[in-house]
Amino acid sequence: MCGIVGYVGHRNALDVVVEALRRMEYRGYDSAGIAILDGRGGLAVERKAGRLANLEAELDEVGRDRFAGTAGMGHTRWATHGRPTDRNAHPHRDASGRVAVVHNGIIENFAPLRAELEHAGVELASDTDTEVAVHLVARAYAEGPTAGDFVESARTVLRRLEGAFTLVFAHADHPGTIVAARRSTPLVVGVGDGEMFIASDVAAFIEFTRDAVELGQDQVVVITKDSYVVTDFDGNPDVPTQPFTIDWDLAAAEKGGHDYFMLKEIEEQPGAVADTLRGHFVDGRIVLDEQRLSDQELRDIDKVFVVACGSSYHSGLVAKYAIEHWTRLPVEVELASEFRYRDPVLDRSTLVVAISQSGETADTLEAVRHAKEQKARVLAVCNTNGAQIPREADAVLYTRTGPEIGVASTKAFLAQMAANLLVGLALAQARGTKYPDEVAREYEDLAAMPERIAQLLTTMEPVRELARELSASPAVLFLGRHVGYPVALEGALKLKELAYMHAEGFAAGELKHGPIALIEDGLPVIVVMPSPKGRAVLHSKLLSNIREIQARGARTVVIAEEGDETVRPFADHLIEIPSSPSLLQPLLSTVPLQVFAAEVAQSRGYDVDKPRNLAKSVTVE
Ligand code: M6R
Repeated sequence: MCGIVGYVGHRNALDVVVEALRRMEYRGYDSAGIAILDGRGGLAVERKAGRLANLEAELDEVGRDRFAGTAGMGHTRWATHGRPTDRNAHPHRDASGRVAVVHNGIIENFAPLRAELEHAGVELASDTDTEVAVHLVARAYAEGPTAGDFVESARTVLRRLEGAFTLVFAHADHPGTIVAARRSTPLVVGVGDGEMFIASDVAAFIEFTRDAVELGQDQVVVITKDSYVVTDFDGNPDVPTQPFTIDWDLAAAEKGGHDYFMLKEIEEQPGAVADTLRGHFVDGRIVLDEQRLSDQELRDIDKVFVVACGSSYHSGLVAKYAIEHWTRLPVEVELASEFRYRDPVLDRSTLVVAISQSGETADTLEAVRHAKEQKARVLAVCNTNGAQIPREADAVLYTRTGPEIGVASTKAFLAQMAANLLVGLALAQARGTKYPDEVAREYEDLAAMPERIAQLLTTMEPVRELARELSASPAVLFLGRHVGYPVALEGALKLKELAYMHAEGFAAGELKHGPIALIEDGLPVIVVMPSPKGRAVLHSKLLSNIREIQARGARTVVIAEEGDETVRPFADHLIEIPSSPSLLQPLLSTVPLQVFAAEVAQSRGYDVDKPRNLAKSVTVE
């Protein structure tokens, strides 16, 4: 949510910053802006509502040579306070125009700070929560104990701010320095040769360096071209940071010939699942990435909560079936945004599995913190190395998909489902609810899935054709049972977020308790069939459900295992998927739903990588 970048080095800062914004635009696209320090005491700012392309057009119009300099910063916005207009676009400046700030997050106490500034005669030029920060820094720099000291002025102000934020400050008097700070929202330093970067995401500087440092909570970093200095908000240098090497390359952050990242990411799913599984079955045992929980602690667990948002939540719903089946532990799956507000019953013997692609989702992070306060054990399933959620967890399993840039989760979702199953097997192994040879068999089944996903991906053209045919439909319903139910929810979410089409997922058994009233002539209903062998009873019940809706005029689109002939007479459109063990079927049945949603969205003329109103990481509650 909001992408920020700062640079000090030897290159043209405008080029570096604009390219970084391009790579981080998935974090927000309500506006984009840059500030460049020209090295002669000037600070040039340009900002524009809408996509980065608008800013670039503006830069071309006014002339890019006006923005010469080797230090600067940029911002791509997901609006929280103030409409997405030019006036609210970052960077914001003080009245003199010599200090600038960009911000990700929310300054929760901005209202009293704004009142204080207004009382002192400061005129604020935007409706944002952010702007107070730049005026406060300018005032601290102008007079009082921190006068003339840019870094100390920033620290003084940071100590007054409440909320979650990453802030980056530039001052025209200090052309070779950028000051940044973080509380709860992400900030990484890129360490180059004679150049330093700070950004919300390593994608911003992967082209220039793979050496990165993840900052901790409430830390300030001051970058110059040759150094980065990290302290806490009081200036104490004795603070923990986490250096790491980025293990993917520039190609992963490029579209690779596809029109959209999402389409590339759908194709990458076999590799994403295979990479997520790789190295986690060693000498006949499941191993996690960072296991700070002993087998004894896992044996002591008597209840599991899964907390997550959006698609990650759906992956948790799928996991519940397997974890309960394999471990006989009760599993509750909770929306992270609801979890801590309902006083869940947690103690030392509760395991909380927090699933987050970004590792920075504010709701999930707060759920983790709440769980830890209540002494529960926390295991994170995450796609981003060293992000805040895995850092605060007791154990971590990484999904290794590389960067997921399309706002809609695809490869991360499949990888999460695979990782969650590994968590279930690790628990079953530690608790002895499955014999080692059973764990091995389950793992082998899982390890066979990437090939089947790859095979399925070669058969998607009819799904695209169908999507084009149905793209004018006002609504689509999705039905499933057992693990097919969360798949139905995920299919509906994809269609909503990408195609802005009314879509609902239902447990098919619930149809007759209300939703069947929605069925009318020609309404497309996508049904996820369970395996006829693995779930014979459910299969026949779902067949009855299909008959019921077909009798009422629904246009049935049925996703069923190859060779499931019983379903053919009731399917207006049949989408076949390879056969698989029941608990693993979502790794396949989700794929046509992703392809369907992407194609409907494209047919309706929408940008599938950047759906309206959304951002990839949601770092505000
Ligand atoms: O980074 P996270 O996994 O915590 O994100 C959770 C959701 O915001 C995310 O899955 C969202 O629902 C996706 N846009 C769905 O495609």
